[in-house]
Amino acid sequence: MNADGRTRLNETPEWTALAEHREELGGVGLRELFDTDPGRGTGYTLQVGDLHVDYAKHLVTDETLRLLRELAAATDVFGLRDAMFRGEKINTTEDRAVLHTALRAPRDAVIEVDGRNVVPDVHAVLDKMAGFAERVRSGEWTGYTGRRIRNVVNVGIGGSDLGPAMAYEVLRAFTDRDLTVRFVSNVDGADLHEATRDLDPAETLFIIASKTFTTIETITNATSARSWLLQALGDEKAVARHFVALSTNAEKVTGFGIDPDNMFEFWDWVGGRYSYDSAIGLSLMIAIGPERFREMLDGFHLVDEHFRTAPAESNVPLLLGLLGVWYGNFHDAQSHAVLPYSHYLSRFTAYLQQLDMESNGKYVGRDGREVEWQTGPVVWGTPGTNGQHAYYQLLHQGTKLIPADFIGFAEPVAELSGELTAQHDLLMANFFAQTQALAFGKTADEVRAEGVPEELVPHKTFRGDRPTTTILARELSPSVLGQLVALYEHKVFVQGAIWNIDSFDQWGVELGKVLAKRVEPALTEGAEVPGLDTSTKALVAKYRELRGR
Ligand code: F6P
Repeated sequence: MNADGRTRLNETPEWTALAEHREELGGVGLRELFDTDPGRGTGYTLQVGDLHVDYAKHLVTDETLRLLRELAAATDVFGLRDAMFRGEKINTTEDRAVLHTALRAPRDAVIEVDGRNVVPDVHAVLDKMAGFAERVRSGEWTGYTGRRIRNVVNVGIGGSDLGPAMAYEVLRAFTDRDLTVRFVSNVDGADLHEATRDLDPAETLFIIASKTFTTIETITNATSARSWLLQALGDEKAVARHFVALSTNAEKVTGFGIDPDNMFEFWDWVGGRYSYDSAIGLSLMIAIGPERFREMLDGFHLVDEHFRTAPAESNVPLLLGLLGVWYGNFHDAQSHAVLPYSHYLSRFTAYLQQLDMESNGKYVGRDGREVEWQTGPVVWGTPGTNGQHAYYQLLHQGTKLIPADFIGFAEPVAELSGELTAQHDLLMANFFAQTQALAFGKTADEVRAEGVPEELVPHKTFRGDRPTTTILARELSPSVLGQLVALYEHKVFVQGAIWNIDSFDQWGVELGKVLAKRVEPALTEGAEVPGLDTSTKALVAKYRELRGR
């Protein structure tokens, strides 16, 4: 029993039933599941908004899904979901509400935090962002010397970088191609150097994105960006025309020298990795325009409403969360691949890594006790066709079970034409072929029937039974991107709820930050750092030697 009165997850009858069911299923494979159910290919599908979700190629039966839903009911996933949507402080270790869903709520919605309706605040900031974005896009907002802004550089890290950087790539076809938009996150000076070396400071706007405005990487880069600008423009007053801030911390923003009028606010109930549809999306909004940004928010909202209201049987985020639990907890899968068949989604998995791994990479439960079950998987992947010629070998014939999501689109983006449009069918042929090969493999008899010499038969045999979800939409639009991100946000939520962990804190990143601060004087001044282990001490000495210090 937990301190909160909840039965330990792995002691619930629902968990035990799933473990027994897993035993009973044994080696039942996808060929058998498809042979015994001719309707499986069409029956194991769901639709949410524009997303067609096919889960037929999973190692599950109706009974598996029923038992998984019972686990969700026993762990009160929907109860926690409702508490989240109501604005209750479900991020208990930080005593905060979790309301990224309010960021995309319609203007007339009412969502209260501590008795205050936050929706008007959300829309006030969105309106302010829209006004600013339009002024930059139209050329009305000029730099200090009166020149038009042609370059936008977002300086932020983690949730203050990955979301807008990913979405900018995804929606490139919708961006103003006359604007150069770049993202600087790494405290390695090379990042800022490469992002600015060919830019004219008089035409460059820096957007300093940091929820806390204390993150050392971001503040360091922002300070260097300021020097770069001032070196060229020579007047402190230029900062007000070339720097804006996205933050929850007005005091620190002002302290940095940014005009509070040029600060776009958000709130502590928006987690960093859930924030790119808040003010953190300003660079994206400048790139695609407020109207497209609004379409994206509507896409998010559509899936929020689906998650909030759809029954368990047809609730897509619930289903995806449960499938992850099935593999992670009952098949010992350690990782989860996300494989988009769209070049524009090249940063999508990197974005999901923070969303998923920072949310659910925890071994301590809400009750403060260590969990006795696997929690969040390692999330990885790159665009599919490139992966096919790199790591798919392991997906097909490796010793590990790696469930994967395949994401693809029926239409190429509208900008493509001629032969490039025609290439889309080849791309998608790979998309469909891969999930088929992963699921059904190739038997030894099939290989022999091709006349393959006996000694090569084992090498050319594919066991199959590698589970995949296929997510297919007609086209990649701002709305579809919003739908996809919300789908994954809520999937992560479902899993955190089942595993009984707080998916909204991130204490695990603190220790490294504290130690870095402590170690820095040892590198620069050779200072004696108390408590430094012998390995790190020797490495620091080697570093100083190599730097000639
Ligand atoms: O890496 C930890 C973290 O706090 C993330 O959760 C967050 O997205 C990132 O740092 C950046 O934080 P901030 O927006 O406050 O600069």
